[in-house]
Amino acid sequence: MRVVKTFYIETFGCQMNAHDSEKVIGTLVARGYSQVATPEQAELVFYNTCSIRDKAEQKVFSRLQQFKKEHGKGKTFAVLGCVAQQEGERIFEKAPHVSLVCGSASYNRLPEMLVQLESGNRRVTGLSLDTDETFDTPLTRRDNPHRAYITIIEGCDKSCAYCVVPFTRGPERSRASASIMAEAGELAAAGYTEIQLLGQNVNSYRDPSPAGWDFATLLAHVGRTPGIRRVRFTTSHPRDFVREIVDAIDANPSLCNHVHLPVQSGSTRVLEAMQRLYTRDDYMRRIEWIKSARRPIAITSDIIVGFPGETEADFEETLALIEEVEYDSIFSFKYSRRPNTPALALGDQIPEEEKGRRLAVLQERQRAIQVRRNATYLGRVEECLVEGFNKATGQWIGRTSQNKTLNFIRPARNAEDNLLGSYIEVKVTRAGPNSLAGESVH
Ligand code: SAH
Ligand code: SF4
Ligand code: F3S
Repeated sequence: MRVVKTFYIETFGCQMNAHDSEKVIGTLVARGYSQVATPEQAELVFYNTCSIRDKAEQKVFSRLQQFKKEHGKGKTFAVLGCVAQQEGERIFEKAPHVSLVCGSASYNRLPEMLVQLESGNRRVTGLSLDTDETFDTPLTRRDNPHRAYITIIEGCDKSCAYCVVPFTRGPERSRASASIMAEAGELAAAGYTEIQLLGQNVNSYRDPSPAGWDFATLLAHVGRTPGIRRVRFTTSHPRDFVREIVDAIDANPSLCNHVHLPVQSGSTRVLEAMQRLYTRDDYMRRIEWIKSARRPIAITSDIIVGFPGETEADFEETLALIEEVEYDSIFSFKYSRRPNTPALALGDQIPEEEKGRRLAVLQERQRAIQVRRNATYLGRVEECLVEGFNKATGQWIGRTSQNKTLNFIRPARNAEDNLLGSYIEVKVTRAGPNSLAGESVH
């Protein structure tokens, strides 16, 4: 039996999936596999999948379909992530050329599953959700040389009526604070300056070790890691968002001026049907805390339109809410029916066309809000982490603490100065709906 040595991996879905892939890559490389840039070159092809909406789920099956003809040519196909967990062994029926199906709660077992594959096993699965382990690995291969992800909590214990995540990622498991702090220290020593703490619901972080830190305490400690200049966190669930988080941001300059606080709907009636566990008023109270911080904090959100039973009046409440909050940006989605979820049982589905109309109206309103919000940055000086250079426009691509893209030129310097990874003060001279532009001030 020839040992598989080259692999290709494609990742779909959220940042947790992106970070899981970094860990999987590290694990594979440590076992002697080498990563290649295309599936054609690879002996082992991994898809790390997302199931959040129907379209996301379809992507993996269309990828697998493209490679059906490769079956028998020595390629091995592996499906990881949320579709793997959701569909389980059904994937072998839908795509018989797949050999490995493994959900994120079983990644600790990947090395042993690879051994089974290498020894000729045709079908290997890792589908148990019954674990209190988190997937921590010192072998992570990070994509970005300046910003690093740290998973602090896996899974989700909420049961939002539309959402597959509790089924695809299992119950909530928090990671011990000492392990998180150790990773933060190692990242700083390795030259990373920005840390992004990850979890489906970071606010419900609860340190399992005797230290017993809550999320705000963890934030404050990570924010004081020497060498770390920026700390971000995502996602915050409004129900568990406490005032202490805003206090921690106020007290620690390294905690970024940005909170992503998904509201989903502006109508209390719809929020109740979604089982979100807060009302519109509860949500707006949290927005007031954020707005009364000493630093101006950017606020972003996720919104679903066309949840079953959403009336025109409910939708109007969402429109009014985005005007009231004045979000810096939003991700907005048409409701998508998902397997196993409680919302499947609800009647009164909104027609696809009407969902599309509501989404377009919402996005148009939000665009106008962003034009307004971003215009308030004109003339301001913002610190940017430089993330890239756009050869076509001659502009550096920076990111502000508020998580806004700020493209800038540096008039007084040589174009070949390498600014990547540095922090530069930039004066904003132009503002569009999706980004800012300016000039460095020195
Ligand atoms: N844990 C995060 C969200 C993770 S999923 C939270 O609770 O906020 C990211 C976003 O996808 C959600 O905020 C929601 O807006 C959207 N989403 C989730 N399930 C969906 C579905 N069935 N249809 C449409 N959008 C969905
Ligand atoms: Fe899904 Fe709700 Fe959990 Fe977020 S909090 S992952 S929307 S169930
Ligand atoms: Fe998708 Fe799973 Fe993330 S469903 S959004 S990859 S948790």
